[in-house]
Amino acid sequence: MDEAQLRELTAANPELGGLRDQALAAIAAAGEQAAIEDVRVRFLGRKSRLTEILRSISALPAEQRPVVGRLGNLVRVELGALVEAREAELASASLRSALAHERIDVTLPGEPFLGGHEHLISRTIREVEDIFIGLGYKVAEGPEVETEYYNFTALNTPADHPARSLHDTFFVDAASAGARAGRGADDGLLLRTHTSPVQVRAMEKQPPPVYVVCPGKAYRRDLDATHTPMFHQVEGLAVDEGITLADLKGTLYHFARAFFGTDREIRLRPHFFPFTEPSVEVDVSCGLCGGKGCRSCKYSGWLEILGAGMVDPSLYGFVGYDADKVQGFAFGMGVERMAMLKHHIPDARAFVDNDKRFLEQF
Ligand code: PHE
Repeated sequence: MDEAQLRELTAANPELGGLRDQALAAIAAAGEQAAIEDVRVRFLGRKSRLTEILRSISALPAEQRPVVGRLGNLVRVELGALVEAREAELASASLRSALAHERIDVTLPGEPFLGGHEHLISRTIREVEDIFIGLGYKVAEGPEVETEYYNFTALNTPADHPARSLHDTFFVDAASAGARAGRGADDGLLLRTHTSPVQVRAMEKQPPPVYVVCPGKAYRRDLDATHTPMFHQVEGLAVDEGITLADLKGTLYHFARAFFGTDREIRLRPHFFPFTEPSVEVDVSCGLCGGKGCRSCKYSGWLEILGAGMVDPSLYGFVGYDADKVQGFAFGMGVERMAMLKHHIPDARAFVDNDKRFLEQF
């Protein structure tokens, strides 16, 4: 707005000229964004005096109307532009000062981030799985809460077998314990005592041949230096035509050397399991003394690693396989035990103590 216009305006409406002066001063004085926002509301807002005057032009004497209308509007546009310009100026000033004050020194060392790593038990499970995957096995998993049928009955473990007793098995509820006493002895629910039921489920799901390993948690009422109530197993099953005990031995021989080292030997000792016939326990030669005998192997030269055997043909009846056509072997190992033997860990409870000093070693 130039001098002439200003004079014309002040002559027509002195208040408008005064308002403009006040607004110009307030804009110049606004030192921060909130202040300029106040100025906008005070001088240009819906309830401002300027808006009021412009809205009531029709009430003015006829000769004032065109001048006040034209120049009043010019004042409004002029002030709006000035407010906006001042606002932009203040915004960029505040950004500049934030950048200056909140400068981050990217060369300072950061907070150390302590990366975790796989637990030794998980790693051991993977190592075992990998060896069998290399032999063509598939990995199968199943529920940890099992029925008595899959955990015992279909594995040829009769209703009165002591392993079913409360002393060894965690039953899930009172009704389950009752079932064990003779009422519907197959339906009781329990925490599986081994991962063998997964093998039964695997056979139910597919016709032979079957080559599976079953990793997972198992539960027994045990607690001492070498047993925890929850532990891990990897069990394996091979069912095909023409499978013999020699296949079992060859497979476990390969496994033991892949897992512990190629300087190891294995031996099979006769044993008993309800679900295999014949059954064996498998030992690996002691890695510390090379089989000569030392404290670690109790001077026997051998360390027991797992149970195994030829699948008892009576099991095939439970899953609809033809016992005259197929043969198979099965084996089951405790993962904690395998890790303890491989890494010379004296106490299985260390796996669940969660002491980082222990866990970080592996
Ligand atoms: N299921 C047996 C156990 O948990 C291990 C095993 C599996 C033995 C397969 C023989 C054959 O003790």
